[in-house]
Amino acid sequence: MGMAMGIMSLPWSLVLALTIAVVSAGDEAALLAFREQISDGGALASWNSSAGFCSWEGVTCSHWAPKRAVALRLDGRALVGALSPALGNLTFLRTLNLSFNWFHGEIPASLGRLRRLQRLDLSDNSFSGTFPVNLSSCVSMTEMTLRNNKLGGRIPTELGDKLASLKVVSLRNNSFTGPIPASLANLSYLQNLDLGLNQLVGSIPPGLGTLHNMRQFTVVRNNLSGMLPDSLYNLSSLELLNVGVNMLHGSIPDDIGSKFPMMKTLALGGNHFTGTIPSSISNISSLVALGLVQNGFSGHVPPTLGKMGALQYLNLADNKLEANDNKGWEFITSLANCSQLQKLILSNNSFGGQLPGSIVNLSTTLQQLYLDDTRISGSIPADIGNLVGLNVVLIANTSISGVIPDSIGKLENLIELGLYNNTLSGLVPSSLGNLSQLNRFYAYNNNLEGPIPASMGELKNLFVLDLSKNHQLNGSIPREIFKLSSLSWYLDLSYNSFSGPIPNDVGSLANLNILILAGNQLSGKIPDSIQNMNKLSGDIPDALASIGNLQELAVDGNVNLCGGTPQLHLAPCSTSLLSKNKKKMQKSLVISLATAGAILLSLSVILLVWILCKRFKQSHKTLSQNLIVDDHYQRIPYQVLLRGTNEFSEVNLLGRGSYGAVYKCVLDNEERTLAVKVFNLGQSRYSKSFETECEAMRRIRHRCLVKIITSCSSINHQGQEFKALIFEFMPNGNLAGWLHPKSQEPATSNTLSLAQRLDIGVDIVDAVEYLHNYCQPLVIHCDLKPSNILLSDNMSARVGDFGISRILQENTSGGMQNSYSSTGIRGSIGYVAPGDWNS
Ligand SMILES: *[C@@H]1O[C@H](CO)[C@@H](O)[C@H](O)[C@H]1NC(C)=O
Ligand SMILES: *[C@@H]1O[C@H](CO)[C@@H](O)[C@H](O)[C@H]1NC(C)=O
Ligand SMILES: *[C@@H]1O[C@H](CO)[C@@H](O)[C@H](O)[C@H]1NC(C)=O
Ligand SMILES: *[C@@H]1O[C@H](CO)[C@@H](O)[C@H](O)[C@H]1NC(C)=O
Ligand SMILES: *[C@@H]1O[C@H](CO)[C@@H](O)[C@H](O)[C@H]1NC(C)=O
Ligand SMILES: *[C@@H]1O[C@H](CO)[C@@H](O)[C@H](O)[C@H]1NC(C)=O
Ligand SMILES: *[C@@H]1O[C@H](CO)[C@@H](O)[C@H](O)[C@H]1NC(C)=O
Ligand SMILES: *[C@@H]1O[C@H](CO)[C@@H](O)[C@H](O)[C@H]1NC(C)=O
Ligand SMILES: *[C@@H]1O[C@H](CO)[C@@H](O)[C@H](O)[C@H]1NC(C)=O
Ligand SMILES: *[C@@H]1O[C@H](CO)[C@@H](O)[C@H](O)[C@H]1NC(C)=O
Ligand SMILES: *[C@@H]1O[C@H](CO)[C@@H](O)[C@H](O)[C@H]1NC(C)=O
Ligand SMILES: *[C@@H]1O[C@H](CO)[C@@H](O)[C@H](O)[C@H]1NC(C)=O
Repeated sequence: MGMAMGIMSLPWSLVLALTIAVVSAGDEAALLAFREQISDGGALASWNSSAGFCSWEGVTCSHWAPKRAVALRLDGRALVGALSPALGNLTFLRTLNLSFNWFHGEIPASLGRLRRLQRLDLSDNSFSGTFPVNLSSCVSMTEMTLRNNKLGGRIPTELGDKLASLKVVSLRNNSFTGPIPASLANLSYLQNLDLGLNQLVGSIPPGLGTLHNMRQFTVVRNNLSGMLPDSLYNLSSLELLNVGVNMLHGSIPDDIGSKFPMMKTLALGGNHFTGTIPSSISNISSLVALGLVQNGFSGHVPPTLGKMGALQYLNLADNKLEANDNKGWEFITSLANCSQLQKLILSNNSFGGQLPGSIVNLSTTLQQLYLDDTRISGSIPADIGNLVGLNVVLIANTSISGVIPDSIGKLENLIELGLYNNTLSGLVPSSLGNLSQLNRFYAYNNNLEGPIPASMGELKNLFVLDLSKNHQLNGSIPREIFKLSSLSWYLDLSYNSFSGPIPNDVGSLANLNILILAGNQLSGKIPDSIQNMNKLSGDIPDALASIGNLQELAVDGNVNLCGGTPQLHLAPCSTSLLSKNKKKMQKSLVISLATAGAILLSLSVILLVWILCKRFKQSHKTLSQNLIVDDHYQRIPYQVLLRGTNEFSEVNLLGRGSYGAVYKCVLDNEERTLAVKVFNLGQSRYSKSFETECEAMRRIRHRCLVKIITSCSSINHQGQEFKALIFEFMPNGNLAGWLHPKSQEPATSNTLSLAQRLDIGVDIVDAVEYLHNYCQPLVIHCDLKPSNILLSDNMSARVGDFGISRILQENTSGGMQNSYSSTGIRGSIGYVAPGDWNS
């Protein structure tokens, strides 16, 4: 019996062995050709001839002979290079996933031969060129994801004509232009269409309203115009409709409430929609997020919004919505029914009348409450402390008066509290000291009075405190404030009635960048050499000496400064320095002391601006080194760059962009490493980019910006024009590389600690703030992203790549306060920009 079994089984094993041997030599050749074109950093080490290709990393074969590759999944393997057309030979492929790599160049047209391909995912690479029309031959395709690449040109009509099985299409975040092809209306199985973040124009084709399987439709951030086609309201399966940030107009139909029974996210922000918000919208009980921000909506907010029991986000900011004491505020009462509400943003509308007391009945899940830039009056309800979930509160630029309620101290999760530009009066409640998470507190331009409570010294996480222009705040400045070592951005107590001495504890403000005490009646021992700037370099006054390391002093543009060393080029001091013009202040430590009875009796304000650049703790450069702005850049000839980069070899390539490429360059006779950005001069716009960047770099310098060493404009060895900028080399690469490490395993060597992230964040804010607010002329970077944030050897961050920055006119408007406070809260955590709820 056993014998018989053995004999019987023999042919089977033979058959099996033979079958295994029958693999497609064609597939192996195609895979090897694919590997040939890329560098894999070892990720494809298993792709060797000692094993059949079916066992290679990322390759899946069919079960039956002949063995054919049916899936190639190499997502996130840090592969670099072009995509070989040979992939078109893997004709049994059903899944091709190469997402999250560094592929560049065009998507080969030969992929059109993959008639069995169902899922194609090339997202998060750097593919360029146009959408290959041949892809429309992949007639089995159900899912096509090309998002986060650099593809351009029009979306081909053929896409809609042939790929009839498509369910998911994402072309998000490319550079597609032209209209949305009407042919997409043929894709009757389509469930998810994401064309967001392109440059599409024209209107939304009405035919799309016939795609009844559609669940998610996103065209956010394009340049689409016209009205939403009526047919779109026929898509009763829609769960997400995001048409934010386009140029659409029209109004929301009155019966919207019966159109979208499944809708979770409705985002119409950043368009030109007008009319009222129909009350039927409250009937969409599935709605989680409603974004109508930045439109022209008017009238009253429907009083029934609270029927949307699932609502978490409601953003109505920047419209013309109305309310007054008689009518219009009912919706606040109603919203108390939304037990999951997290963000309520009502900023910048025509809301007037008293702030309804029922606001304190909102869900304790509420995290963010924005009521700024409205005409709301009345007072902050005494029970505001009920809303214990709050982490951001902004009640600013309103007509709110009355006191800051004591109960505010119960909001222990509060991170940002903005109460500026109101008419609040009374004392600063000492309960504020309980807000141990608070990062920023702005209450300037109110009528607050009395002393600052010493309890504020408990705010161990505070990094901005602005109580300026209350005029009536008085008493001595509690020494506890000066012990808040977390205070790093600025402390502004100016234009109040503080008196007494500056406590010696001021030295504990080791991290502070800006201190403004102007317009008070401070007295007592003034730091010795306050009028003697000649001594600043060597002899920093005692009380201030310990504020960080006073190492860099830059005073250009400070019209209020006088005296100092000749290098500072400042006017000699005179008595006419009372100007309150602060607009040209740079990153500064402003100490202003109104010194009744002091030597300069007639001066009520002395402004002294010191720039602290305290994070260079390890370097002890002398003041003069940092003061001298050497306009005499060293010259580096083309030949030296050619040698230093090994003839601009790929080995030294640090990065590539549309402008050209950046190479690492080691100067031959010195051990100095530089980064050379070579501009692609084929197209005139990159020549412009070179000039923009040169100009930007010539005019600006800041410790948090990449330092330019020189530029090189020459003729290359092929006789063509050559332009390059030469920067300090940043050994730790860019932030993007750290945030999205290509290697699979997180390790301390490739991840950033929280502290490092914070430091980097602070550096970036510093740099951008300098560019936007203090640099003359103002520079708008326009392209700030992790890949443009470079990291030095000690992991401090520098902003680079000014190729597309915009240099604004030489005049600036608005003082320091404006620039801080307006960028301060509104643009901070969680202010949901239009269209940023998405999939
Ligand atoms: C792809 O297939 C074609 C013909 O089918 C063949 O000529 C070519 O050599 C193949 N390429 C690779 C890399 O296998
Ligand atoms: C070849 O691949 C196998 C796995 O398929 C691996 O064990 C072996 O180390 C590889 N050989 C080389 C030389 O990389
Ligand atoms: C491709 O891989 C990515 C990342 O692992 C994954 O999120 C995505 O769903 C995959 N795409 C397809 C079409 O399976
Ligand atoms: C692209 O498609 C056309 C028409 O089907 C075909 O003639 C051509 O060979 C295809 N190109 C490639 C590279 O497969
Ligand atoms: C867009 O895609 C690029 C890669 O091409 C990526 O660096 C960038 O972060 C993406 N932007 C957004 C908003 O997703
Ligand atoms: C696809 O749509 C276009 C334009 O809407 C139409 O002219 C064409 O007939 C449609 N093709 C198919 C196969 O339905
Ligand atoms: C958007 O379209 C309008 C005209 O429809 C045009 O004036 C504008 O320049 C376009 N904007 C962009 C960013 O393409
Ligand atoms: C919506 O669908 C209904 C029924 O399918 C149809 O009669 C109507 O014409 C459609 N409306 C629009 C504007 O397409
Ligand atoms: C909301 O739905 C209810 C029940 O379906 C209906 O009676 C009511 O008229 C609707 N409200 C609005 C404003 O459309
Ligand atoms: C309160 O929300 C529930 C759903 O959570 C809803 O059924 C009910 O109608 C709402 N009540 C009011 C008065 O809006
Ligand atoms: C208020 O909204 C209008 C219209 O959306 C906008 O133009 C304006 O800049 C906004 N004002 C503020 C202070 O945000
Ligand atoms: C505060 O009010 C002043 C005028 O009183 C105004 O100039 C300033 O822009 C306001 N600040 C902000 C951030 O809106």
